[in-house]
Amino acid sequence: MSSGVVRRAFIAASLSLAACAPKARSQAPIAIPPLKSFAPFPVGTCIQAAQLDDPAFAALVAAQVSQLTPEWELKMEYVLQKDGGYRFDAPDRIAAFCADHGLRFFGHTLVWYYEKPEFFQQRLGEAYRSAFRDAYAAYITAVVGRYKGRICAWDVVNEQITDDGADWRDSLWSQGLGRLEHMRFAYELAHAADPGAVLFLNDYNLESNPKKRGTFMGLAEALLKAGAPLMGLGTQTHVNADLAPGAITAAVKDLASLGLKVRISEMDVSLARVPGLANLRADLQRRQAALFAEAAEALAGLPAHQRFDFTFWGLEDSQSWLRRENAADSPLLFDDAGRPKPAAAAWERALRP
Ligand code: XIL
Repeated sequence: MSSGVVRRAFIAASLSLAACAPKARSQAPIAIPPLKSFAPFPVGTCIQAAQLDDPAFAALVAAQVSQLTPEWELKMEYVLQKDGGYRFDAPDRIAAFCADHGLRFFGHTLVWYYEKPEFFQQRLGEAYRSAFRDAYAAYITAVVGRYKGRICAWDVVNEQITDDGADWRDSLWSQGLGRLEHMRFAYELAHAADPGAVLFLNDYNLESNPKKRGTFMGLAEALLKAGAPLMGLGTQTHVNADLAPGAITAAVKDLASLGLKVRISEMDVSLARVPGLANLRADLQRRQAALFAEAAEALAGLPAHQRFDFTFWGLEDSQSWLRRENAADSPLLFDDAGRPKPAAAAWERALRP
């Protein structure tokens, strides 16, 4: 082989190495300690009972988080049957997994405007006023009572503020029991069924919509004034990657201002929901990482007794509810193979002492 051929081969090899280098760097595995091992607050994810059948995923969950929330299997649409009976098979499985692995179990959710079961619709109207109230009380008492001492806290009322941020929502529950009274009563019932459970009010878009946040805070104050045992406020933090920096910090500070416990309750950062094609995916990924980091810092910045938990709405992208809306979205900390993404590294860096 002539020296020219060797040289050409050498140059070609270096060029191809150089071409690969940036790619190889960005694909280098990211190693971070388990999330719960360094966070100054409990770390959670949502879960569906069937996901626990996958041993690799169950191991990831047990290693990374200290708290689980059923993604939908403690909602009325799952628990309440057509004849008024209840089913608890799936939440019981999640409860058992929590007990086996020393995880906290979070209850989501008792009163949600979105639920409109026939069983309650049939009991609406003056003639049925007491039947509606009795069925409502029976439901909350049964569900909270079943997990007494096992569920550490409940989203008692979920998503009560209208999307324009101006008002409280009307719902089957407000029609049956009154605008404030159905909520006050729910807190009272949940507290009676499990005096040890921490009772939350939870909502979304509190970062992007300060008007909605103001109405949410007003509702919390109205509940407290009415004597409801409301103990904490949750901000779901389903945000898009183009959310303005500082918006999450402002929301968390505002929520903490009443002195109640605070949680980031369902965080994910959508890339796909950002409008416009001009956004490069790499830019969106950087902004995603920055938003996760900001949220971690914001919660860590609260007094220790106010930090209840930081829950992600899923660990792996493949399991996100946002994937059903757009198959290209990747809103979570771990990729489809359960490997930590740059967003996970940013979340970890934000919490480093
Ligand atoms: C979503 C679940 O992720 C989906 O699986 C389900 O089909 C619909 O609800 N806010 C909430 C959660 O409080 O209950 C929602 O979860 C996401 C938005």
